[in-house]
Amino acid sequence: MLLDARGVTKLFGGFRAVAGADLAVADGEIVGLIGPNGAGKSTFFRCLAGDLVPSAGRVVFDGDDLTRASPEAHARAGIGRTFQVPATFADMTVLENVMVGAFLHHPGAREARARAREVLDLTGLAPLAGQRAGALGTPGRKRLEIARALATAPRLLLLDECLAGLTPVELRDAIDLVRKIHRLGVTLVIVEHVMEVIVTLAQRVLVFNEGHVIATGAPREVVADPAVIEAYLGRGYRERTDPAP
Ligand SMILES: Nc1ncnc2c1ncn2[C@@H]1O[C@H](COP(=O)(O)OP(=O)(O)O)[C@@H](O)[C@H]1O
Ligand SMILES: [Mg+2]
Repeated sequence: MLLDARGVTKLFGGFRAVAGADLAVADGEIVGLIGPNGAGKSTFFRCLAGDLVPSAGRVVFDGDDLTRASPEAHARAGIGRTFQVPATFADMTVLENVMVGAFLHHPGAREARARAREVLDLTGLAPLAGQRAGALGTPGRKRLEIARALATAPRLLLLDECLAGLTPVELRDAIDLVRKIHRLGVTLVIVEHVMEVIVTLAQRVLVFNEGHVIATGAPREVVADPAVIEAYLGRGYRERTDPAP
């Protein structure tokens, strides 16, 4: 397993935001993670990426125990992530923002800039390289979040609702970008509310509720699971997506 997270728990005061979550991801997989707001998905990602130290449990990546390691150590080991709330530097250019990620493996500015330009080409942001990040529209901002994470050269990329708020056409382009990243050999875990994204991209889906995984399986099985519909999707989802009798 590339990632093996076991029994991950995160307490905020007496509140268990993550309550014994397990996630094992093989090299090359695309795993979808769905669940209602407040289920603990972002907190779980923050534990996997080293932004938070779990209260209990273990995070092992490529055989190394990273449970208590710093965020930088996680990034160096190859865990990249986007933030649900974009963390770009608004007054810096698009290129400079991506260079922030590239500095992780390229301490020299020239090399970091070259690496950042590669990532801008890959993500379709090259024409916007000199623009202020704060001036980007929604699709550009989402791409920049992904580009910044990619610039750290992750082996595992955690995408936290980074395709929300796009129009159908923008969404299709974004899905193509995720596929392209996957083809480059990046393993992915995707948190997303847009079920079309999950069903289209994920090979396997986990459903999170109240801090832990309540169901797992192939995307189409999971969205038909009564417990999942009850906890998350609601009856409306099944009615909308069932073929007419
Ligand atoms: N830093 C924090 N301090 C206290 N409570 C938090 C903190 N971060 C998240 N929470 C709480 O933990 C729960 C899970 O939040 P989150 O991980 O953001 O859920 P999700 O991403 O699934 O919507 C929520 O009830 C949220 O209010
Ligand atoms: Mg979240």
